[in-house]
Amino acid sequence: MPDISDLSPSDAAKLAASRAAVKLVRDGMKLGLGTGSTAVIMVRVLAERAAAEGLTLRCAATSKATAELATSLGLRVENLDDIGWLDMTIDGADEVDPDLNLIKGGGGAHLREKIVARASDRMVVIADPGKVVETLGAYHLPVEVIPFGWKVTERLIREALDAQGLGKRPILLRQRDGRPFQTDEGNLILDLSLEAIADPHRLARGLSDIPGVVEHGLFLGICDLAIIGQPDGNVTLLRSEAAEGDLDPVLDAGENA
Ligand code: A5P
Repeated sequence: MPDISDLSPSDAAKLAASRAAVKLVRDGMKLGLGTGSTAVIMVRVLAERAAAEGLTLRCAATSKATAELATSLGLRVENLDDIGWLDMTIDGADEVDPDLNLIKGGGGAHLREKIVARASDRMVVIADPGKVVETLGAYHLPVEVIPFGWKVTERLIREALDAQGLGKRPILLRQRDGRPFQTDEGNLILDLSLEAIADPHRLARGLSDIPGVVEHGLFLGICDLAIIGQPDGNVTLLRSEAAEGDLDPVLDAGENA
């Protein structure tokens, strides 16, 4: 990795968070690897440390892109079902609130990300300070839908939003290179502009009830620890009660890394 002083403030913060998270890794661990620009930096830091210390790790990736990157850097990537259960997943996020609820899916990988995170004893989020919010929703909420009948699914989403007082908010079919974006599973993404999500649990239930919705980007009660990197290389921690105890000694050593 380049020296932190050569990076943009945002990348320096991502690197600081990545370094702190990778300090939590122990030899023999089974790890989930996230997706996105922060996860790319983390995978590079992890691969460097694994090579330098000869760590034996088994990794499950949350996207084809991450699998390719990690494999190219010498990390052992396997199918999640072959590994079975993971010790820890390290992933980025689009928003993190004070209760460690997240919006994810800016990269369109939140379906696999949620499966991998739920198959982990611990989910650790790494982020730059711009991701920390008081209330989720300023960032669009990605919802993965199957292509069959997606316009009907969109209509049902609008009805669910109306029923929750979220009004007539814009919903956009995500595009890439002038065509509908396709997830690794061959599905589509609808991006919901909600501005503020007052009751994320209610919204999550409403979206999950709709046939055609595969997964939404609300990660509620899943993240145990958020490591917020700072451009100067320091980190601040947001942690759940579950993360206190077993991770604390490592974290205390890693803070202000
Ligand atoms: C991928 O689908 C997302 O959930 C990412 O984890 C999230 O968008 C964060 O990405 P960046 O690290 O690129 O901001």
